[in-house]
Amino acid sequence: MADSSTRDILVTSALPYANGSLHLGHLLEMVQTDIWVRFQKSRGHRCHYVCADDAHGTAIMLTAEKLGITPEEQIRRVQEEHERDSAGFLIGFDNFYSTHSPENRHWSEEIYRRLKANGHIASRAITQAFDPEKQLFLADRFIKGTCPKCKTPDQYGDNCEACGATYTPAELIDPVSALSGATPVERESEHYFFTLPAFTDMLREWTSSGTLQPQIANKLREWLDAGLQEWDISRDAPYFGFEIPDAPGKYFYVWLDAPIGYMASFQNYCERTGLDFDSFWQPDSAAELYHFIGKDIINFHGLFWPAMLHSANLRTPTAVYVHGFLTVNGTKMSKSRGTFIKASTYLEHLEAEYLRYYFAAKLGASVDDIDLNLEDFVQRVNADVVGKVVNIASRCAGFLRKQFDSTLADECAEAELVQSFIDRGADIAGLYEGREFNKAIREIVALADRANQYIDAKKPWVLAKEDGREREVHDVCSVGINLFRVLMTYLKPVLPAMAEKAEAFLNHSLDWTALDAPLRGHRLEKFQPLITRIDPKQIDALVEASREQAPATAAAAEATAPGATAATSDKAAAPQNDDSRSDTIQFEDFAKVDLRVAEIVAADHVEGADKLLRLTLNLGGEQRQVFAGIKAAYQPEDLVGKLTVMVANLAPRKMRFGVSEGMVLAAGPGGEDIYLLEPHDGAEPGMQVK
Ligand code: MSP
Ligand code: ZN
Repeated sequence: MADSSTRDILVTSALPYANGSLHLGHLLEMVQTDIWVRFQKSRGHRCHYVCADDAHGTAIMLTAEKLGITPEEQIRRVQEEHERDSAGFLIGFDNFYSTHSPENRHWSEEIYRRLKANGHIASRAITQAFDPEKQLFLADRFIKGTCPKCKTPDQYGDNCEACGATYTPAELIDPVSALSGATPVERESEHYFFTLPAFTDMLREWTSSGTLQPQIANKLREWLDAGLQEWDISRDAPYFGFEIPDAPGKYFYVWLDAPIGYMASFQNYCERTGLDFDSFWQPDSAAELYHFIGKDIINFHGLFWPAMLHSANLRTPTAVYVHGFLTVNGTKMSKSRGTFIKASTYLEHLEAEYLRYYFAAKLGASVDDIDLNLEDFVQRVNADVVGKVVNIASRCAGFLRKQFDSTLADECAEAELVQSFIDRGADIAGLYEGREFNKAIREIVALADRANQYIDAKKPWVLAKEDGREREVHDVCSVGINLFRVLMTYLKPVLPAMAEKAEAFLNHSLDWTALDAPLRGHRLEKFQPLITRIDPKQIDALVEASREQAPATAAAAEATAPGATAATSDKAAAPQNDDSRSDTIQFEDFAKVDLRVAEIVAADHVEGADKLLRLTLNLGGEQRQVFAGIKAAYQPEDLVGKLTVMVANLAPRKMRFGVSEGMVLAAGPGGEDIYLLEPHDGAEPGMQVK
């Protein structure tokens, strides 16, 4: 499949700190990247996915000290755990390495030498807080004291958790070292700087040449307009990292060698596989390079990293793809609520593919945060994956086995229908390519609905009981299996293990590049359950288990680089979705609401509810149950047969009387004064309102 349109693609996820366990936030990023990589591979491209642990820095050194082990032992343990957890989530790294490696030392030194030779390294003495007891310089996060604004004690050196004020550690009242409790002293020391301002023009061009999502490009433009400052890339001993050449006692700051770790991991992979490393990194490389990262680290990937690469005469990234943060049940992951979920804890209770599917169903190309709503998670996975996709195969497989020796019909009875599924492939591929996994999933689920409607209309279970209609049963079930084959091919990047089981059942490899004619006269293997429903009890157990655990160490501490510009040094400087609080909304916000014409097929009183009616709504092939507070205004029998408008993608809500799967639209203050919306004549159930 290696023709001229075959692309060479190198993809990375951000390197997790070797200072704590992976949690579901890390997994959001890895799953997003992995789906994209698997998609590229499935299209026949030469795509390589590398990652590593980010092993350097003060935080890791201190953790090791606390545990009474060497930093080397600490990073070895964590790497083992990270590799095990990511494998558990079916993350298909081609190489998972460490920044504490010979390759990374080589490239860090080499790049530093090139920057220096080009005049892009400066040095000067700076004054910094120093812990006289521990004998080390203190990053802002390691200094505590009383907030100068609101006087709350025990606040960190860069911002107050009580009043939100930001300040420098020097402004704290009664500052102490968070490490020893000693009062910090000011001390001077020589630091090395990367002359970032020299790259302002280069970065202006790079950030606006389609390498970034518009929101991110705008943010970086703001920082560029505000003016860049030199970036402090050195730290004094004791530090766990690489010593700077010709500068005894000075170490590269962890964020200098971390992105170089992408190259190091790739080089290690090339040495193992014989791939040509240089052809990927030379300035005119035809290969593509993509970094998937979270929105808290865009300054490093959108400013420092491309500038360094440029100065070192290496290629710059083709694009940096930024995702938002994971929230659970609408808020930040929380230990006390049991929603700070470690990867390993999740895997003890639930299948990886449930979460892969849910993330895919929610991930788009934007920087918006992604919410894992645990009720919606159960409902969506059970309804879509089990209830729709697997259902197609399971309802056909039995008839084929019992009556037709597990062999598909020699002719496809609905060649056009199958072809129409195959024809959707190009659009679905476009959505995967553009990281609009949520839209791809919506398309695929709509196709699954059509497949089920086809089987529902033909009713093979009725035909099977009638004499002389065997052939029809055979045809319908063979078509069903062919539709399933196409759908599973599209889902394979998201659900690789389930796809593998489907391949065993179909006795056929699901190859997107070879999706053409339907399977005919083809022998199937025995059908094995592909995936089981989630039992809500599993979720309860997961939350319970998570509640007991402490969160991973706050590894983010290292991100604050003293001496760097205030605008670019701080993780908190990343965009925080402020737009959501404004009065006007963007079109994309509106487009998130899936409004549909719905036919009220039944309306019933609900025992014990004095305001609610239970509506059964037909969305054109799919039924929903919705509880609406309209009892005072309507007689149930007056509603049956009417059309209205509903929000079809509202997270389901468990109520005392059952689950409400959406919301109907009505106007008015309530009580008797409430008026359901009704579309004009001609609207059909399921039509989208936009
Ligand atoms: N070590 C640095 C990255 C160096 S890359 C050269 C780092 N590590 S991290 O462990 O803190 O984060 C790794 C990745 O996970 C980052 O892209 C970060 O944005 C992402 N996430 C960490 N928590 C997250 C959520 N709660 N939600 C989504 N992604 C988040 O930063
Ligand atoms: Zn305060």
